[in-house]
Amino acid sequence: MKEKDNKINLKTLFGWLDILKIDMDKPVPFRQQFAVMCTVLIISCLLFTVVYFQQMITSGVSEKEVMQTSVSEKNEAAEGVEKNKKEDKSEKTETSKKNEVKKQHVSVQDNGESASELIGSMTTVSKEIDELHKGKLILVNKDYSCRYDGENVKEMKDLKSSSYILIDYSVCLDPSIADSLNSMMDDFAEMYGDNDLMIACGYRSYETQIKLFNTEIENKGESDAEQWVAPPGYSEHQTGYVLDLDLNKDERGSGINFDGNGLYSWLNDNCDEYGFVVRYIEGKEKITGYNYEPWHFRYVGIPHSQYMTDNKIALEEYLELLQQHTEARPLVVQDHKGVRWCIYYTPVENWDTTQINVPAEKEYTISGDNYSGYIVTVKLDAIENYSEESSSDEVYSEEGTTDEGYSGEDYSDEGYSGEDYSDEGYSGEGYSDEGYSGEGYSDEGYSGEGYSDEGYSGEGYTNEGYSGEGYSDEDYSGEGYSDEGYSEEW
Ligand code: DAL
Ligand code: ZN
Repeated sequence: MKEKDNKINLKTLFGWLDILKIDMDKPVPFRQQFAVMCTVLIISCLLFTVVYFQQMITSGVSEKEVMQTSVSEKNEAAEGVEKNKKEDKSEKTETSKKNEVKKQHVSVQDNGESASELIGSMTTVSKEIDELHKGKLILVNKDYSCRYDGENVKEMKDLKSSSYILIDYSVCLDPSIADSLNSMMDDFAEMYGDNDLMIACGYRSYETQIKLFNTEIENKGESDAEQWVAPPGYSEHQTGYVLDLDLNKDERGSGINFDGNGLYSWLNDNCDEYGFVVRYIEGKEKITGYNYEPWHFRYVGIPHSQYMTDNKIALEEYLELLQQHTEARPLVVQDHKGVRWCIYYTPVENWDTTQINVPAEKEYTISGDNYSGYIVTVKLDAIENYSEESSSDEVYSEEGTTDEGYSGEDYSDEGYSGEDYSDEGYSGEGYSDEGYSGEGYSDEGYSGEGYSDEGYSGEGYTNEGYSGEGYSDEDYSGEGYSDEGYSEEW
């Protein structure tokens, strides 16, 4: 009986396969071993298939989706997008939330109301003619030069947050845009876990531009160079409202070009939420005078940045549009956060002092356009959680000038290195009438009649426009620019 118990008579389990009858007392023949293995393998396969399809049905994932996931995973690996791997699901949700905000469009609200009907009580301020060349909306291009040179800028090493780097300590910008820039860079770093963004160039002096311009001509020839680099005096970089981005990814320590692709496209797509625009956009080369430069960001402020970006128009076009919106018929827009703004244009009077009607009680800013008049931007609605301390732009209220700099985001001191920027901390060396000595700007380098009060004819401001002549290495006396510093970004 004992011997019989030791027999595993598999025939009872698989009656169809007599061959599997195994006598444990005898060595099992190879034919039987092979048959058992095959049977076990077939059963395993059947079980696996059943379990697999059951899971697929339960999770509702179609075969197509499985294939797509696998293809996209392969693509990620192939592209070596290591940063993407750092993203967890919550980060991705955050990204899509931000993009949802972005999808909103500035809406124009035209009820035929005048500025005073919208704003309420008004008062008047006087602007001297040199104010025409100052402010966040000034147009600096091949036709209109920048009338100041470095009086308004500060070193960014003292103002930057920790989420990006500077190519060197000499990078300077107008301090009033630092908060907005920091917010943008901080949000990018937080979202993508990437700290490789580098400011390759901020304010660029007239003298540095001479060297850059001449080097570019030597390298590319005149006509090609002029599509990339502004003639000295006519570069937006001289305003302090512009920065070129670069990536600090080169193992040799130098930057590599920022092309606005991959995860970095977020900056090009969302910079308008922080008051910046990509200044030289595709398709507008004839209007701007320059090729597409995805790395060149210009601050104009909210809501202008959002209006320009949503409508895909260059600063030249936007300022022309604003000329149709005087006090009698202002441009009224609702920005991406639902805040309403009233924007109107006042032309210069007699090329001398201009009287501009402004709100007596509401916050507003005034910017010259650098060639024909002033743009008043009034915030019609109060913003929830808006704090007076959280700003950096010049805004006038009934008490006088206050900081603004509202970037559309709640600003916090976190990540802000060094001393906070405030009016109190601002030494007076910056942008003010007193600070503007007129020495920074000179007629040298202008090939036309140059800038002079005589140039103001009363009929329109025509003294300028780069003619393609007038710059030589002899003009250049500084040391700021060297061939080692030469990059493909300007
Ligand atoms: N690259 C721009 C046009 C500049 O040189 O200012
Ligand atoms: Zn640039």
